[in-house]
Amino acid sequence: MVKVSDKTLSPEYTSQLRLLLSRIIKEQIPDFIYDQQNTEVIKNLFLYYTGQVGGYDLKKGIWLMGGNGTGKTTLLQIFSEFGKKRYDGFRIYDCAKVANDYAMNGELDVYTYNQTGYSRKPVNMAFDELGRETIPSNHFGQKLNVMQHILHIRYNLWRTEGIQTYITTNCDADETHRLYDNVNDRFISDRIKEMYNRIVLDGESRRK
Ligand SMILES: Nc1ncnc2c1ncn2[C@@H]1O[C@H](COP(=O)(O)OP(=O)(O)O)[C@@H](O)[C@H]1O
Ligand SMILES: [Mg+2]
Repeated sequence: MVKVSDKTLSPEYTSQLRLLLSRIIKEQIPDFIYDQQNTEVIKNLFLYYTGQVGGYDLKKGIWLMGGNGTGKTTLLQIFSEFGKKRYDGFRIYDCAKVANDYAMNGELDVYTYNQTGYSRKPVNMAFDELGRETIPSNHFGQKLNVMQHILHIRYNLWRTEGIQTYITTNCDADETHRLYDNVNDRFISDRIKEMYNRIVLDGESRRK
């Protein structure tokens, strides 16, 4: 079963957390801009990652989509750091590196059941830039659509243990369907709706 913890935090504690978040943002990007594209998303991610009811479903993961440079990776990094400071951080893995890791080692345990990891159990984690990786990845002739495989297992981990997954991607629904569904089904596409809060980060690229 999926675990939900809707915490009611005291106003004092909430304002301490807000201060911590804005410090982290300032540290990472001194000239960080809050605008129409991201203010609401940041507010809701803050509530989400502190386990409070807001715009997002606490039972689900995060699927952050949008064009290049709209700040998706930055937001993940900010909330990963925010989590670390509160002892419930998550690591971010770049999908291209994950696919390469498979090609080199033929191993995906860290990203799935994590039986060889420190905690020896699956953990919440983020995958950055989904859709940028090489598909299929090739481990000495053994070909695998690595992220399709991982998304599949992460879905099962979510269903059975409430383990969360956070994604950033440039892909829209059609592209995701093309890359990760099999020819005659919508296995991954349909599960995205079920498993994730889908968030669109719009606007111009913030890259300078
Ligand atoms: N709100 C923001 N204000 C100012 N700069 C930002 C903001 N968000 C991201 N950036 C900067 O814009 C660039 C692109 O951000 P990034 O998170 O890599 O975008 P994406 O992952 O969506 O492609 C980075 O150099 C980042 O530091
Ligand atoms: Mg990015």
